Amino acid sequence: MKGLILCGGKGTRLRPLTYTRSKPLLPIANKPIVEYVLRHIHQAGITDIGIVINPTIEEEFKNYFQSHPQVRAGQIHITLIMQEKPLGLAHAVKTAQPFLGGDDFLLYLGDNILEQGPAEAVAEFKRQQLDALIFLKEVPEPQAFGVAVLDEQAKVVQVIEKPQQPPSHTVLVGVYLFSAKIFEAIDSLKPSWRGEYEITDAIQHLIDRQAKVQGKVLAGWWLDTGKKDDILSANSTVLDAFAVQDIRGEVDKQSKISGRVAIGAGSVIINSTIRGPAVIGEQVRIENSFIGPYTSIGDKSQIFDSGIEHAVILNGVYVQAISRLEDSLIGEDTRVVKSQNKQLTLRLMIGDSATVEI
Ligand code: G1P
Repeated sequence: MKGLILCGGKGTRLRPLTYTRSKPLLPIANKPIVEYVLRHIHQAGITDIGIVINPTIEEEFKNYFQSHPQVRAGQIHITLIMQEKPLGLAHAVKTAQPFLGGDDFLLYLGDNILEQGPAEAVAEFKRQQLDALIFLKEVPEPQAFGVAVLDEQAKVVQVIEKPQQPPSHTVLVGVYLFSAKIFEAIDSLKPSWRGEYEITDAIQHLIDRQAKVQGKVLAGWWLDTGKKDDILSANSTVLDAFAVQDIRGEVDKQSKISGRVAIGAGSVIINSTIRGPAVIGEQVRIENSFIGPYTSIGDKSQIFDSGIEHAVILNGVYVQAISRLEDSLIGEDTRVVKSQNKQLTLRLMIGDSATVEI
């Protein structure tokens, strides 16, 4: 079995951050989202993994995987596959057909993080010789997703993409197992109302032809990282689940570290309080500050005389004299400082598509 991760999307709802990096490489608890995906695929015993990307992020992905420890050690083999145009998930899968050949495959959308890995489902898929197994989750508002209807044996009887009148609250989470039969279904597709070749329509095509399509409703959490608030809540959930106390940097006597806090090598904490769950990267400097729970701070950032809570701060960020910075997502090499002038004037230099709440 092979793995296929779809990372071709433009991540428009996360601009400006996605102007300079692709969404699957944005960090959650200081690790790129795609790392959580790779870990699950690898745990399921799959080592040959294709990643569908678009031309604007090719360099970034090549650089990322060149220095990836598991790739360098030969434990996983990555093939980057170019999708020239964003014509939908089924089109992305079709683009990967030469890589997949006739093999079964695990398809994972590159912006999803799940609590449970798919290893058990992979075994079930093989045992029952299924044509498709789709991962599902109950949600209160299914309209924004693909929606499924199951019978008592968890056989999928209907799937429909973003319906206005959802027939159930069971939605597709963006992780699927397929046999090569899916390609016959993809080849027969027409574009949907949003002009895309939908993988959901390909699954319906399999169902209509009596193929064996099974659903698996997840018990654990599922995080879809589409917007700023999704990134912040994903960061909180992942820190809650996985943060450990692991202090490699220096903490002076005036500082207080409580709860599960990881501090990377070369970091220095002076006269500050850090309350977990939180993760601080390498070579970070924090002075006279309070770092509250559910916060991730990237490598080489510097925080002085400030309070930060429920935030994701990327690498090389400089924060000074900001008494409360909350619910924030701050891009790489950014400066957030209190102005010296006495008037209540704001002086801003902000990239395109930014959001500033004052
Ligand atoms: C895609 C799928 C949809 C699925 C969702 C999960 O939607 O088309 O069926 O429920 O991912 O995140 P998109 O995010 O591309 O709109």
